Amino acid sequence: MSVIRSVVTGTGSYLPEKILTNSDLEKTVDTSDEWIIERTGIKRRHIAAEDEVTSDLAVKAATRALESARMDAVDIDLIVVATSTADQTFPSTATTVQRKLGITKGAAFDVQAVCSGFVYALTTADNFIKAGQAKNVLVIGAEIFSRILDWEDRTTCVLFGDGAGAVVLTAQEGSGENTDQGMLASRIHSDGRYNELLYVDGGVSSTGTIGHLRMKGREVFRHAVVNLASVVGEVFRHAVVNLASVVGEVLEDCDMTSSDVDWIVPHQANKRILDGTARKLKVDPEKVVVTVQDHANTSAASIPLALDVAVKDGRIGKGDILILEAMGGGFTWGACLLRW
Ligand code: UT7
Repeated sequence: MSVIRSVVTGTGSYLPEKILTNSDLEKTVDTSDEWIIERTGIKRRHIAAEDEVTSDLAVKAATRALESARMDAVDIDLIVVATSTADQTFPSTATTVQRKLGITKGAAFDVQAVCSGFVYALTTADNFIKAGQAKNVLVIGAEIFSRILDWEDRTTCVLFGDGAGAVVLTAQEGSGENTDQGMLASRIHSDGRYNELLYVDGGVSSTGTIGHLRMKGREVFRHAVVNLASVVGEVFRHAVVNLASVVGEVLEDCDMTSSDVDWIVPHQANKRILDGTARKLKVDPEKVVVTVQDHANTSAASIPLALDVAVKDGRIGKGDILILEAMGGGFTWGACLLRW
């Protein structure tokens, strides 16, 4: 049976020029390079220039993704930007990106799921493609978290950074089997009861201010490992069911487990969360793409940033099975399974 698949045809990323190291932070808050590396794996983060806004970062990543897809901006018929740090309250950052890229057709909108934003955006874009409503989608994660941090709170300000990553997702015909290239399964979840564990204490309709990020790190950590392991497991099961129903083979013949995975490209929050999730899934840590040391937690931008690194350095190759997974404020969490 012929189906429409969403295939990643290009990747790109951008990190602002200015680098803030752990030693730089030692001068402003009571912390140490040793504590930050031991607890998080983070060594440095990038900080946007004063005159840079989130759409600037997004456009730079998107332009690189278009180049790698050998596509022009005019080929794009949908832009989905995952961000929690929009340029303006409205219009969406996606429409600003659209204007800056010189695109005047199609649609553009933002998705807000904090650190899970990219998985939510990719899932949304995949659904548009599968429904036949878009052919070439720019999916972007872009954040300037440095502007919502309390720079006097050592428990949060050392953890985050700015950046952007993007992919071009293109509609291609597939056979409906899990041997197809492209997105094979995705699952997203949320549970609003955990708002107070990770949030920003400001907003348009509440305080009328932008606010600062607040987090109960230890509890978030615990939820992250449990939720991520379970959602990734769920995506595996979903992929197996798709394959079984489409090709009519028995489950045993086409079983997909974590041993089938070539690469996990996780949201980069904390090296210990990445290790913990890999352990729970019984995945070799060597198969986990880790870039958190170079840019800290860039929220919705971290998965496409890590993906771009591993694609450009040649680790990820055609036919590889990838899992992208993330967990963030809300709580929100989700995972996508795709064949490169
Ligand atoms: O993207 C999704 C959202 N975020 C996350 O996924 C982050 C999840 N959480 C984490 O990554 C970790 O919980 C943290 C990195 C935030 C903290 O690591 P932890 O091992 O859970 O440390 P902790 O919160 O239990 O704090 C241990 C100690 C505390 O001191 P006391 O109470 O034991 O005296 C903190 O006050 O470390 C102290 N501390 C620091 N010390 C030096 C907290 N922040 C710092 C700091 N430098 N920057």
